Amino acid sequence: MTTLELAPASRFGFDPGQFNMLYMFGLGEVAISLSGDPAEDHRIMHTVRAVGAVSQALTRLRRNDVVGVRGPYGSSWPVRDSEGSDVIIVAGSLGLAPLRPVIYRMLARRERYGRLVVLYGARGPADILYRRELEAWRRRLDVDITVTVDHAAADWRGNVGVVPALIGRTPIDPDHTVAMVCGPEIMMRFTVDALRQRGLVTDRIFLSMERNMKCAIGICGHCQFGPAFVCREGPVFRFDRIASFFNQREI
Ligand SMILES: Cc1cc2nc3c(=O)[nH]c(=O)nc-3n(C[C@H](O)[C@H](O)[C@H](O)COP(=O)(O)OP(=O)(O)OC[C@H]3O[C@@H](n4cnc5c(N)ncnc54)[C@H](O)[C@@H]3O)c2cc1C
Ligand code: FES
Repeated sequence: MTTLELAPASRFGFDPGQFNMLYMFGLGEVAISLSGDPAEDHRIMHTVRAVGAVSQALTRLRRNDVVGVRGPYGSSWPVRDSEGSDVIIVAGSLGLAPLRPVIYRMLARRERYGRLVVLYGARGPADILYRRELEAWRRRLDVDITVTVDHAAADWRGNVGVVPALIGRTPIDPDHTVAMVCGPEIMMRFTVDALRQRGLVTDRIFLSMERNMKCAIGICGHCQFGPAFVCREGPVFRFDRIASFFNQREI
């Protein structure tokens, strides 16, 4: 995984959860979440996993290379609406990227929130994103950070197991908690089940969905998800609004 720092031609603002379309000249364009601090308008951060032609090319960019950017697009996490509540952030793998701006913003306005819990799962110790920041946040007394990995060698001293399993061990006051979840869909399914078992109602759970995108402005229909377009109504959805088609494989 590679984190790119882009210098925009003019000031750039976004809300946590939104994404940009990044264009590699001659290759194509892909949706990539904004993963930086929303308070910084002079640089744009994106964390990219190389899976295909465009993302591979993005991870090979060098200093002073040029990339096309349009955005920001899409809905955002309910950062303001969660003021006064406890917040539990559950991220799997690259799912921490669109949630990192939430953490920056909430830590900058820490007094506005109740308990802040971050549960993060990665495949292995080498796959943990933003390791130094996680360690720095863990040293603070006002945020609970727990990291787990699916598999590790004997020298790993942390948690081993899938991230939804951490929810059973986390104190949660379901009437005063908002959950924000992002990761592979299977992980989000188990996470939603675990949160619901802890008493969270569906309108307190928010997920970020991924679908292939082309236009990113609600015209082409590529990103259809049930009756919604992920680029326009999403990527962040309140769970009760997608629950009826979330568990279907193909719509
Ligand atoms: C709202 C939104 C936010 C996103 N944020 C990020 C982000 O922050 N960082 C990031 O790296 N990607 C992100 N993605 C995913 C990214 O847009 C896709 O992975 C994109 O298709 C990559 O394009 P490509 O041309 O490199 O590969 P493609 O040619 O599209 O895909 C190549 C191969 O990889 C597989 N593949 C595609 N996407 C994924 C995936 N996500 N995981 C595993 N395999 C995959 C395909 O099935 C195909 O077999 C986001 C997508 C959306 C919709
Ligand atoms: S990407 Fe075209 S409608 Fe969403």
